[in-house]
Amino acid sequence: MCGIVGYSGYRDCSDVLVGALSRLEYRGYDSAGIAVFENGKIEVAKCKGRLKDLVAKMEIDGKPQGNVGIGHTRWATHGEPSDINSHPHSGEKVTIVHNGIIENYKVLKEFLIEHGEKFLSDTDTEVVAKLLGYYYKKNPMEPIVTIERTIKDLEGSFALGIVFEDFPDVVFATRRESPLIVGVGENESFIASDVPAIINYTKNYYLLDHDEIVKLENGDVTIYDDHGDIEEKELMTADWDMDAAEKGGYPHFMIKEIHEQPTSINTTIKPRIVDGMPNLEECSITLDKIKSFKQIYIVACGTAMHAGLVGKYVIEKLAKVPVTVDMASEFRYRNPLVGKGDLVIIISQSGETADSLAAMRLAKKLGAKTLAIVNVKGSSIAREADMLIYTHAGPEIAVASTKAYIVQLSVMYLFAFELALAKGAITQEQCKALTAELQNTPGIISDVLEKTLEITQYVGTKLVATESLLYIGRGLDYALSMEGSLKLKEISYIHSESYAAGELKHGTISLITDGMPVIAVATQSDLLEKTVSNIKEVKARGAKVILVAREDFEIDEEAYDYLIKVPKMQDILMPIPTIVPLQLIAYYTAVHRGNDVDKPRNLAKSVTVE
Ligand code: AGP
Ligand code: GLU
Repeated sequence: MCGIVGYSGYRDCSDVLVGALSRLEYRGYDSAGIAVFENGKIEVAKCKGRLKDLVAKMEIDGKPQGNVGIGHTRWATHGEPSDINSHPHSGEKVTIVHNGIIENYKVLKEFLIEHGEKFLSDTDTEVVAKLLGYYYKKNPMEPIVTIERTIKDLEGSFALGIVFEDFPDVVFATRRESPLIVGVGENESFIASDVPAIINYTKNYYLLDHDEIVKLENGDVTIYDDHGDIEEKELMTADWDMDAAEKGGYPHFMIKEIHEQPTSINTTIKPRIVDGMPNLEECSITLDKIKSFKQIYIVACGTAMHAGLVGKYVIEKLAKVPVTVDMASEFRYRNPLVGKGDLVIIISQSGETADSLAAMRLAKKLGAKTLAIVNVKGSSIAREADMLIYTHAGPEIAVASTKAYIVQLSVMYLFAFELALAKGAITQEQCKALTAELQNTPGIISDVLEKTLEITQYVGTKLVATESLLYIGRGLDYALSMEGSLKLKEISYIHSESYAAGELKHGTISLITDGMPVIAVATQSDLLEKTVSNIKEVKARGAKVILVAREDFEIDEEAYDYLIKVPKMQDILMPIPTIVPLQLIAYYTAVHRGNDVDKPRNLAKSVTVE
């Protein structure tokens, strides 16, 4: 879950590493460290805390001076966040940074202790450092052979940045499961867990496959396959620039990303609409290919899973195909009845979520076809799926997902329209009308942003001292409530739950006490009456109701305390504009509470552990 970087070139390496790490801090932020060659010696600076604490430490102690090195921002899995457990870690003549988990670290540690190694930290990473040292002693001046031999012993996931004392101009790296890219500039080269880290310097990068090893030496990049042979790889180019990886005048990435949503939807749907009709041919998805699926599973985690819940309603309603939505972590262990003839859709912003990746592999093994909806290009899920639709949200840096969610919704709609057409469940005209309405969403979101900024800020002030609250809704509004509630929990640390409004009376309504906030969502015309009755039930028991409702609905003023209006669209598309005020409520509440919105406690952006 952490971020690793490496640099070999002509610039001040400490500065490059710190700058690159600052763009990866969203991946982990409990400790940070760097190792740089200074006059041929590896100098390490590391400490517990944020990257800024490392910078402060280096201001006092002096920062390592040199042009080649590696860096790390940590999200601890083995060993508490502490100075000692911070990366880099060292073995004999070798120093490393690591993202991932070494599952067999205990056995390896015992073996190394038997061979006289002494350990300083509690991390699994130090075992890799010591093992590298152990094999390097047997293969002196043979770094590639040493790395190859070492990773043969490793089980689990890793992206490793490695420097050997005997090779002061060189950074080595390798990966299995954890992501790693290799950036190529003019007379300089990089490794990083993700593209934003290096976009300042270059847009060109290679993707590494499992167990490949890369050697960076100034501008030269050499990639070795898992047999140790040199390989030619396709050079990729990032299709976005620095601005996308910077805050651009906003106080937080999250609010910037909320504002980017109209553009993100546009960029995602535009290439997939031809003559007013959905067209997924650029993703190799044709009507013929999808019409035979009788059963669909949507598997994902967190916010991506919530996008799947909206997808379920929409696909079932339009295409009349049964859809089961699963949390990836549950799907894997419940012996799902998935098989040949089924479609399993995996939704993931990062494309690296361990649970989702493993669920996809299981689905493939069981004979199902897999379709991935992924934002990060070249990520593991994207690479392994049978079919792939990229969302084009650009880099999402804030830990709380916003624009990635909204583009996942937009793709779910396009797919549902196409499937419904393939199944003959809707006519060409109906499909065109729905697609036209989807094309209206960017404009409508801009409008919602303008109109709800003030009221959501105000509502945020009302929620600031709340200890607990409920989100309620029915149907699509319930799916949306779940996402609204998760967003608030993640960044404001206020306990909240989402409930199907009709389910409240079966137990949860006993939680309502005088003044307890309830955020109610009402955007579905056929459910309006029923939802309003449920809202009145909580209001009658003292709840303070914040109602998010379609602007044309006439709702008795006595049913709510605050009203947030959302423009009218066809019922089925209402989740897209409606999520925006829910995101804003979470954002402003967290800001008013003085929280670190982009880097909420205990969380990391990309969850590469199970
Ligand atoms: C979203 O705000 C969360 N940080 C989290 O639930 C996230 O959506 C989940 O971990 C899935 O990530 P992915 O989309 O990268 O697979
Ligand atoms: N397992 C390593 C540790 O706990 C790396 C964790 C990470 O990927 O952030 O230090």
